[in-house]
This record gives sequence, structure tokens and C-alpha cells, in this order.
Amino acid sequence: MNLHITLLPGDGIGPEVIAEAVRVLDAIAARYNHTIRYTERLIGGCSIDRFGQSLTEETLADCLASDAVLLGAVGGPQWDDLNAKDRPERGLLALRKGLGVFANLRPVKAHPPLIDASPLKPEKLAGVDLIVVRELTGGLYFGQPKERRLRNGYEWAVDTLEYYDYEIRRVIELAFRLAAGRRKKVTSVDKANVLESSRLWRQIATQVGREHSEITLEHVLVDTAAMRLIASPAALDVVVTENMFGDILTDEASVLAGSMGLLPSASLGEQGPGLYEPIHGSAPDIAGRGIANPIGAILSAAMMLRYSFQLEAEATAIEQAVERAIADGARTADLGGTLRTTQMTDAIVAHL
Ligand code: IPM
Ligand code: MG
Repeated sequence: MNLHITLLPGDGIGPEVIAEAVRVLDAIAARYNHTIRYTERLIGGCSIDRFGQSLTEETLADCLASDAVLLGAVGGPQWDDLNAKDRPERGLLALRKGLGVFANLRPVKAHPPLIDASPLKPEKLAGVDLIVVRELTGGLYFGQPKERRLRNGYEWAVDTLEYYDYEIRRVIELAFRLAAGRRKKVTSVDKANVLESSRLWRQIATQVGREHSEITLEHVLVDTAAMRLIASPAALDVVVTENMFGDILTDEASVLAGSMGLLPSASLGEQGPGLYEPIHGSAPDIAGRGIANPIGAILSAAMMLRYSFQLEAEATAIEQAVERAIADGARTADLGGTLRTTQMTDAIVAHL
């Protein structure tokens, strides 16, 4: 197969972990006879520094013209001025919107050899294998009005949580399709006791649920969901929720895996290239030191092979190599070990 991938390493540890994901992709390409062409572009703070914009039109066009996009991370303290007219995060949001990737899949598994890396009790973690489907191009992140100004002599700010029915339906349908290939359970998370947008969300989830009688649907309020993620995470299979709720719950869920550095994500739309990124962010405190955990980026590359290219065997090969490296004791600093970023990749590639 010929694959054309846009690389957007971004800021902080982004370039370090993307370089490792590329090493793994190249190893897979050699072994399974694929040809991969990479186009590398800037996004986030480095793009602001170079072009004065966190995402240029050309970069978005290049992403749209490729088969899939692999992104590292954006952001850092040097671009954190709250009054700046552009911010690294804006580039990421514009990219998600521009690619139309409305569903963000964030799988979270507890790896038995890493149970000690999590602050939770081992018995809570046994059997944890869930996936959060976060709505990614609507809700509180994008709703209008979204502004700040003087109003009645006071400083005033507003963000809007809005959804059209079709935006809710398509992401919930995707969650049900995923559940069909898993443990057949969907947990729809909302705040329907308070928010009108959540009442629409719940109504549509219920409708979609009726069309899938083989799948169990439960509705859980977001505050209760936050508690259940810690109190009984093994009972969750597919969790589907609004953009901002999903942002918050997935950081919480990452604690189950032992380290945020392990977690990948895939963002998918109806058509066009998917966007793949580790969920850990730019980690400015350790950037440039060569100690970041590359697994989140490597597993994101595996998700890319699965969802954008239907290369299931290749994706599984990467996931198993990661499992084996961890089972052998390979640990970066976030997991209490001493391996450097490149050494962790060496340990993984050795199992491919
Ligand atoms: C994430 C991040 C982003 C988000 C930031 C960097 C804009 O926290 O991918 O979860 O809020 O979506
Ligand atoms: Mg987040």
C-alpha cells in the first residue's frame, strides 16, 4: 500500500515523540511491504513564531490532501499570554474543525504490569478496558457567541454550549458501531438535569439506542461519570459525550492507565483524513531532554493504520510489541523507569 501521511510534530515533546512513531511506522512498512511518504508541517506555537499564525491555510490544505495526519502536541509557556490574538491551541481546534473530525476516540486500558504505576487500588483496575468517544467539533469549544467585552461597565465573557441534532446523532452512532465490536455497552454522559443541550443529547441517544437493540445503553450524568471512572471503571465499555465533558473525563481516565504518556487517540470524520495524536500534550517541563514516553504517539500511529488504512494486522503488531516491551520491564521516567525516549522505542521495535 502507498500511504501519504502529514506529520505535525508541533511543540514541546511533540517532535521527540513523533520521530519515534515514524521509526515504528518505517519498521512496519519494511516488514509488511508498504511505502510511506511523509510531509512535515508546522502547527501551534512553532507556527506562530514562523508564520504569525498557529495554523496556516497551506498547512490545512496539505493535511486535507494527505491520507492521514499524525500530530505531536501544541502549546508552551512562551505562548501563554491570555490576551494574545492567536494561541497554539487555536491551531489545533482549527485543524480538528477543518478536517471535520467530529469523533475523538480515546481508548484506556489498564496494563497488568503497570498496575502499580496508577494511584488506584489494583482491584479497581482489574479488567479496565474502555474507550471514550468525545465529540470534537462542536459544543462549548466552538459555540457562538464566544467573546469578551465590557458590558454595563463590567468585564464580561461568554462561551456557548450548542449542538444541532445531527452533530449529536453522528457521534453517538459511531459510539454504537464501536460498541458492537466490543462488550456491547454504551454509556452516554450528559448533564440533562440542568442543560438544554444535554436534554437534546439524551433524547437522541435514546433514539439511536432503540435502533440498536443488541447494545445496552445507559445515561449517566457527567458528575456521576467522573465518580464512576474512579470507583468502578471496569464496568465501562464505550463512553460517549460532549466535547468539554470528554476533555475533562479523558484526563481523569488516563490515571487508570498509569501514565498519560501511554494514551493514544484517533479523531475521525465522515470522510477525509483522520487525525491521530497522543493525549499527553506538549509537557514543556521535560521537552528537549529525550525522556518523554513515546508510547502515546506510537499507539496513535497504530490507530492510524487501523482506522485510516484498515491495516488491522499491522496495528495489532504494534500494540502487541508495546505490550511485550512493557511486560519485559521497559519503563520511561513517567512509569518510574530510566529508559530514554529512543530506548523505549528500541524495546518496542525489537518485538516487531
Ligand atoms: C486535548 C487538549 C486540547 C483540548 C487542548 C490542547 C486545546 O486538552 O486534546 O484534550 O482541550 O481539546
Ligand atoms: Mg485535554
